Amino acid sequence: MSPLSKNFVRASLIYFFIAAVLGIIMISMKSYPAQLLFTHVHLNLLGWMSMMIYGVGYHILPRFTGKPLAYPKMGEVHFYLANTGLVGLVCFRPFHPLAEIFAGVQVISVGLFVFNIWMSLIPPKPEHE
Ligand code: HEM
Ligand code: HEM
Repeated sequence: MSPLSKNFVRASLIYFFIAAVLGIIMISMKSYPAQLLFTHVHLNLLGWMSMMIYGVGYHILPRFTGKPLAYPKMGEVHFYLANTGLVGLVCFRPFHPLAEIFAGVQVISVGLFVFNIWMSLIPPKPEHE
């Protein structure tokens, strides 16, 4: 497994643990602030779920076409943007325009993943052509 995949899986596991702790805190409260729900939901869905899919996806999806990942360096940029975007988004959700900036960073990171995997799934041309 590449360092890129491992880093995404590690980040995903950390977010899962933090989100689960927040979930328990929410259960124990009579009512919880919207910011806490937002953080729980997005650490789970953009952190745990998406980053696990990024990590496993970078490893396995290019193998379906027998090609390496199209742009490994872009994968590294994706890693930093996805993490910066998520942490920034949950920390600065109530603050504008910071929330929009980090949301934008998150969306760009998603775009990089989509593009990279899309290009990696294009089958190689047969050599005798
Ligand atoms: C230890 C694990 C977890 C705990 C204790 C927990 C706890 C909670 C609590 C207390 C709420 C607020 C809803 C309510 O007041 O009834 C909530 C909402 C939510 N949780 Fe979790 N959760 C956990 C794991 C997860 C996981 C693994 C996911 C997704 C992968 C998830 C996704 C969500 C979502 C999407 C909502 C918002 C639902 C809505 O829109 O009403 N949670 N969770
Ligand atoms: C660029 C990434 C994302 C941004 C900027 C974003 C932003 C938001 C915002 C603004 C809300 C409304 C709550 C609030 O006003 O605080 C929300 C709710 C929600 N989002 Fe996201 N989201 C993103 C990605 C995702 C993804 C990828 C998922 C699922 C896989 C997701 C699942 C949810 C759910 C379930 C809720 C409802 C939570 C609740 O019960 O309040 N979001 N999101």
